[in-house]
This record gives sequence, structure tokens and C-alpha cells, in this order.
Amino acid sequence: MSVAKNIIRADVRALSAYHVPDASGFVKLDAMENPYTLPPQLQRQLGERLAAAALNRYPVPSYAGLKASIREHMGVPVGFDVVLGNGSDELISIVSVACAKPGAKVLAPVPGFVMYAMSAQFAGLEFVGVPLKADLSLDRDAMLAAVREHRPAITYLAYPNNPTGNLFDLDVMLEIIREVRDSGVVVVDEAYQPFAGTSFMPRLPEYPNVIVMRTVSKLGLAGIRLGYMSAAAELLAEFDKVRPPYNVNVLTEATAGFVLEHSAVLDEQAAELCAERANLAAALAAIPGLEVFPSAANFLLLRIARPGLTGTQVFERLLQRKVLVKNVGKMHALLENCLRVTVSTPAENALFLDALQSSLNT
Ligand SMILES: Cc1ncc(COP(=O)(O)O)c(C=O)c1O
Repeated sequence: MSVAKNIIRADVRALSAYHVPDASGFVKLDAMENPYTLPPQLQRQLGERLAAAALNRYPVPSYAGLKASIREHMGVPVGFDVVLGNGSDELISIVSVACAKPGAKVLAPVPGFVMYAMSAQFAGLEFVGVPLKADLSLDRDAMLAAVREHRPAITYLAYPNNPTGNLFDLDVMLEIIREVRDSGVVVVDEAYQPFAGTSFMPRLPEYPNVIVMRTVSKLGLAGIRLGYMSAAAELLAEFDKVRPPYNVNVLTEATAGFVLEHSAVLDEQAAELCAERANLAAALAAIPGLEVFPSAANFLLLRIARPGLTGTQVFERLLQRKVLVKNVGKMHALLENCLRVTVSTPAENALFLDALQSSLNT
């Protein structure tokens, strides 16, 4: 027997690593990144700020300055604090670990963000996926029945959802939150909030079992890895115990602090991407044999609906044309022949449309 076989859990050995394709030389439309960078003037100022960061010191563990700035700029309700994560991936992991009592369960609509199920597995929690309806809306009755049957410790509702891009019905979400009551937490994951025009954040004080989770990744700062979550103080205090003490490094802290002082730049970029989303959706809808789903995020889900042509074939033809999108067709039966594409600059969107038109034909 090898050391790995002796030591590593069988379910971990059976996993394949999270695959991130090499995108060099491609138009990269697979990961919902913001294509815009900071203006050169701000880049120079940021350079000076970073040069002054105390690289020789651990971060100040309270992160008080950055947290205050997030509370001020991100609409966190008065009296509420945030816990920071190395991306919201880490926050998902922290919530999973903190709630992993023996037999505890995690519930989420599927298809959804893959890390909900993976983090549950890593922490030894059972994952229960409840399929969305064919129109990709929440299956209210099935969700409420699943809450009653499984009494999940954690329920995830991504608002908007990934990979479908839609906003779930708020009234149904509230019914689910009420049904969970104090037997679990409901994570409202707002990774795509900058493009959604709505947020659960202002409602947080009404719901002591809700966590609102966000990330700066889609906003234009995917490289610095920073997520934050807000909830009742009693919950945050417990999650903070599980958080590794210096999980946000000083360069991330300094960058986020600086960019938040200039948050209007990111807001303008988000507004441009929303306008581009409308343009791209209209152009796609005009192509025969394509179904485009409504999106409140910075990506579009589309289905190849041409007899004799699969989503995978189109995905591979796009790759040959140096355009990388996400092939989500195998993720769930509801997504058969579907591709997910990030909304980008007018130039990159035009390249994608061109490559797609050609890929639908040959
Ligand atoms: C719904 C959702 N939540 C969380 C994340 C993770 O974001 P982060 O980059 O902060 O780890 C993603 C990333 O794609 C996502 O789609």
C-alpha cells in the first residue's frame, strides 16, 4: 500500500482536482472575470500604496480598517459587521467546517455553484441537491419539502444563481428562510450582486438565520482573492473562530482598501458590463437555434438547440477559434447542450459572436 492509500480519505482519492484550463492565447470568457483594469493613474497610485505595505509584518488580525471600509461602501446594515475570507470560496469552507456536526446536512438548488457540494464533502457534511424547475426557477414545493425532511444546517441560495444567471423569486426565498427557522443558516450568496440591481443585504436585520456572502472577484478584483460575509453578531463570532488568523494578506488588504476609496470606477465598469450584457443577449437571441436565458449576472447561459449539433461540439469549435467559454452541459440534465459565457468588452463580445456564428456552421 502507498502512503497516499494508507492516509488519504477514500472519497478524497476518488475526486478529480478542480480543473482550471490554461487560457493563454485565448479570449477568456469562462470565469466571469471583469475584463477591465484600473485606469493607469490609479494603477500608479496603487503601486505606491503597495510599496508602503508592511510586508515584514503579519496583517493586523482585526482587519478593522478594511472591514470599516467594506461596511461603508458595500451597504452592510448599521450595527452589522463582516468576516473576511480568502475569496468567498474560503468563507463557504469556514461555514461548512463550523456547522459540521455529525449527521448535519447541506441543501442547495441544483444546478448551482459547485463549491457548495465540494465544501460540504470536505467537511464531512451530506449534500442534498434539489433540482430547479425546467425554466430554472426555484422549485418552491420541492425546496420546502426538502427543508422539512432534511432540516439542513446550511442552505445555499445564490442570488443570482451560477451557472444559470437568474435571480430566484424573493418571496420563495423568504418562504424557505422562514421554513429553515433557527434549525439552520441560509447563505444568500451574492457573488454577482454588482450586476443584479438588487440585494438581500438591507433585509439582513430581519432574518437572524441569514448570512449574506459576497466577493470582490466579479467586480474586477478576482486576483486579490477577497470575500466577505455579514450576519448576526452571534453567528459571525463563531465563524471567526474557524477562520485562519491571517487569511487575508497585507497586499490584498491594501489593494482592497485603495480600490474601495475609488469604488466609483468599479461601479462604472459594472454598469458598462450590464449594458453589454443586454447587447450580447440581443445578438445571441437573433441567432436561430440558440436559446438565451435571462441573466442578472455578468455572464449568459445559452443552449445550442440545433438538430445534430451538441453543446460540446460548439465548445470545441470555439476552442479551435481560440475562444474559451464554460461547457456546462454535463453538470446537470437541465443544462444539456448549454454553454456559459462571460460578458466582456464590446471587442471581445464581437470576437465571441463571430466565432460562435462560425462554430454553429462548421
Ligand atoms: C455563486 C458563487 N459564489 C462564490 C464564488 C466564489 O468566488 P470567489 O472568487 O470569491 O472565491 C463563485 C465563483 O464563481 C460563485 O459563482
